[in-house]
Amino acid sequence: MIFPENFVWGAATASYQIEGAVKEDGRGQSIWDTFSHAPGNVADGDTGDVACDHYHRYRDDVALMRELGLAAYRFSVAWPRIQPDGRGPANPRGLAFYDRLVDELLEAGISPYLTLYHWDLPQALEDRGGWADRDTAHRFAEYAAVVHDRLGDRVQNWATLNEPWVAAFLGYGNGVHAPGRKDPASAMRSAHHLLLGHGLAAARLREAGAASIMLVVNSSPVLTPAQVNDHEAVPDEADAAAVDRVHALLTRQFLDPALHGRYPEEVLAAAGRNGGTGHILDGDLEAINAPIDLIGINYYNPCVVEAGPGLPADAAWPGSEDIRFAPADAPVTAMGWPIVPDGLSRLLVRLSKDYPDVGLMVTENGAAFDDVVEDGRVHDADRVSFLRGHLREVGRAIEAGADLRGYLVWSLLDNFEWAEGYRRRFGIVHVDYATQVRVLKDSALWYRDVIAANRL
Ligand code: FCB
Repeated sequence: MIFPENFVWGAATASYQIEGAVKEDGRGQSIWDTFSHAPGNVADGDTGDVACDHYHRYRDDVALMRELGLAAYRFSVAWPRIQPDGRGPANPRGLAFYDRLVDELLEAGISPYLTLYHWDLPQALEDRGGWADRDTAHRFAEYAAVVHDRLGDRVQNWATLNEPWVAAFLGYGNGVHAPGRKDPASAMRSAHHLLLGHGLAAARLREAGAASIMLVVNSSPVLTPAQVNDHEAVPDEADAAAVDRVHALLTRQFLDPALHGRYPEEVLAAAGRNGGTGHILDGDLEAINAPIDLIGINYYNPCVVEAGPGLPADAAWPGSEDIRFAPADAPVTAMGWPIVPDGLSRLLVRLSKDYPDVGLMVTENGAAFDDVVEDGRVHDADRVSFLRGHLREVGRAIEAGADLRGYLVWSLLDNFEWAEGYRRRFGIVHVDYATQVRVLKDSALWYRDVIAANRL
């Protein structure tokens, strides 16, 4: 399988998951500092205080990327480094870190893909209501402009938000992520304000001359249990309705407003049952519909559902009454996530039809396994086979006509996996957290060869 010329190969990370240095150079507190330090929220009481110490080791990490032949590196900027309280003038020392990182990448011939928000909201903004408060959207647009002002001369590729579904519904819905709130109405409001922040920021970035603007979503094909292993399976009416509703809540809730300027009926109905739609003001959908260039897709597994008459809504899924979230008949990763590679091609083909005016990029895909270091090597055959299987589906989606521009593996490094802490390793590079020694896993060496050959 040969990939298109100019297909972008890369890897992704996020600020709170790798940087550490949480008190350095004037960085303010984020909701993940607060959340991870409160007992019981993160496995083993882990925090991002040190993480991969990337803040100090970024030069070595960029050298690893160069060794692997990456064309692109997707990282996120920690908002509390730039505006410690989430508003007001920029902290020059915070900006300077990303300035150095970008220069280092460019010198290594690697294109920076900059994500403005990968979940580390300044705590000061959470104290004023967080994403459930409309003002946060305006603060975000201002922050975007501040970052672009400093880096826009060198960074071409901008992403506004990472996975607004997760930020809203795990952060404010089931409380598994920071800030740990459990209120369906706040989660629905947060989703809308994240979208509004996206649109306002996209407009500011465009105005300032950004070449490419992207919204990154976690998306999955929504399937019935029978459809997981049988593409031809035809669900009955009740199951089909469950599938459509969950697809609306997961994917269309974000991409329909961003790309078509309207909410799906199912989402308005869900909001109606959870606090109402009063937070959606005149003009918001026009703002959210600001032109963008790409959708970033983070794919890990399919979402499997069927009709479940009488069931209450899941806390992460306001509006999912009468639906059962079902396991998939498939092998799983160390996260317990089912491995369904062709879910990726099914998803990409569908999204390219539903949103034909923008390009697609796989901005995250990868897997956690229980890696062991043996004689300085990590033989992560499971991860190699996961990546190979998914890349094959990337190729198939391109053959089927999806306008897919690139693939970024999650993740470059083992890192702080949110509520799972450090016990879940997603890296193609192993990190020994006691010594900060990095070791290229077999998957990294394999990926290097795929990149060099531009084929599987
Ligand atoms: C995604 C997140 C990313 C990482 C992977 C495993 O939801 O965007 O930070 O944690 O999952």
